[in-house]
Amino acid sequence: MNELKYLNGFDSEFQSEDPRRPNSLPKGQNSPQKCPYGLYAEQLSGSAFTAPRTENKRTWFYRIRPSVGHFPFKKFLKGNVTHDWNEQDPDPNQMRWNPFDFPKDQIDFVEGLNTVCGAGDPKMKSGLAIHVYICNVSMGNRAFYNSDGDFLIVPQSGVLFITTEFGKMEVGPNEIAVIQQGMRFKIDVNEPSRGYILEVFGQHFILPDLGPIGANGLANPRDFQTPVALYEDIDVDNYEIIAKYQGKLFICHQNHSPFDVVAWHGNYVPYKYNLENFMVINSVSFDHCDPSIFTVLSCQSEKKGTAIADFVIFPPRWSVQEHTFRPPYYHRNCMSEFMGLILGQYEAKKGGFLPGGATLHSIMTPHGPDFKCFSEASEEALKPTRIAEGTQAFMFESCYGLAVTKWGLKTCEKLDLDYYKCWQGLKKNFNPI
Ligand code: FE2
Repeated sequence: MNELKYLNGFDSEFQSEDPRRPNSLPKGQNSPQKCPYGLYAEQLSGSAFTAPRTENKRTWFYRIRPSVGHFPFKKFLKGNVTHDWNEQDPDPNQMRWNPFDFPKDQIDFVEGLNTVCGAGDPKMKSGLAIHVYICNVSMGNRAFYNSDGDFLIVPQSGVLFITTEFGKMEVGPNEIAVIQQGMRFKIDVNEPSRGYILEVFGQHFILPDLGPIGANGLANPRDFQTPVALYEDIDVDNYEIIAKYQGKLFICHQNHSPFDVVAWHGNYVPYKYNLENFMVINSVSFDHCDPSIFTVLSCQSEKKGTAIADFVIFPPRWSVQEHTFRPPYYHRNCMSEFMGLILGQYEAKKGGFLPGGATLHSIMTPHGPDFKCFSEASEEALKPTRIAEGTQAFMFESCYGLAVTKWGLKTCEKLDLDYYKCWQGLKKNFNPI
């Protein structure tokens, strides 16, 4: 396991230097004209220079070479990344995908990026995209960065060995990683791997406000971890840098590893979080709370309390309510709901919605428990119940209307055209007497 340190909040200032090179981090105003060890200083900005102090994000790298030492970019035509939301006609139907196939050929994380749905435009720093990644080989001497926004990566199968400019992180199923705009990283794997990515344009993820919950609960700041500086000094003929820029991929070459940061300081960092650390709040006297009580991270729009995207989980928990129907209620939502399943069985639909698959319930499209779930939950004894044991479902919820790509509707060949049938058994129980 690579060394990690705890974030203890998203507003803190961090510093890290590779333990092999002590004092590589310049200190304050006494910094010499030349950086220690002959390093270059380079800043990575994650906010406007003049953003308010509470929102200002940047990190200083002290690295062997500045990032600018590369050859020109050309188009990179592999993978299925797109932000063309007009590829297909809009479709308001409930959608469910069977588990996405692992690749048949050898492809790495970048080549295995497939956009399923999204909205908005990274040029205007507004919107989001949802991708599925499937890969079976490591990126090796290939690095990636995203000019368009932040990646929230949700592994479903396979451990991701992530090398970043900040250091290394291992992230497996039931953990998440957030790699923010511009940060260079590569992902190595040792088995066929699959997962989901929520990409947001223009804003960063934050912890949700807790309101009346108080100071503690949901995802606690102390459980987020960030890498420790760890550089490599590797000269090669052909190190590939792939950039995602305005929804398309580009590739260039350079003759050295980009992971040559010896020390860094700042408050703009990649981080990981283990979903087992989520403090669940879900015991109520009657009815039940909205799923917002399960929000791990939120990316807020400019409309107060309205998210470009929330990342919400449905972890194992006690379900304790009095005289009420306990599964999720039937509903129609002014938000779009994309769900995935990391492991186990989702409580409202046992079977059909499988690990590695997905569902999309679009704005104002009705959905809720299938008829089997409704029937059983209407009759079961109302005692405290442990639910979702061995399960982790999640939701990307967005205020935007999501367009499904050609890959999502056709190319992946995983759309379940019989999904609607799970509600067809809901019969009339009305008894006016
Ligand atoms: Fe829903």
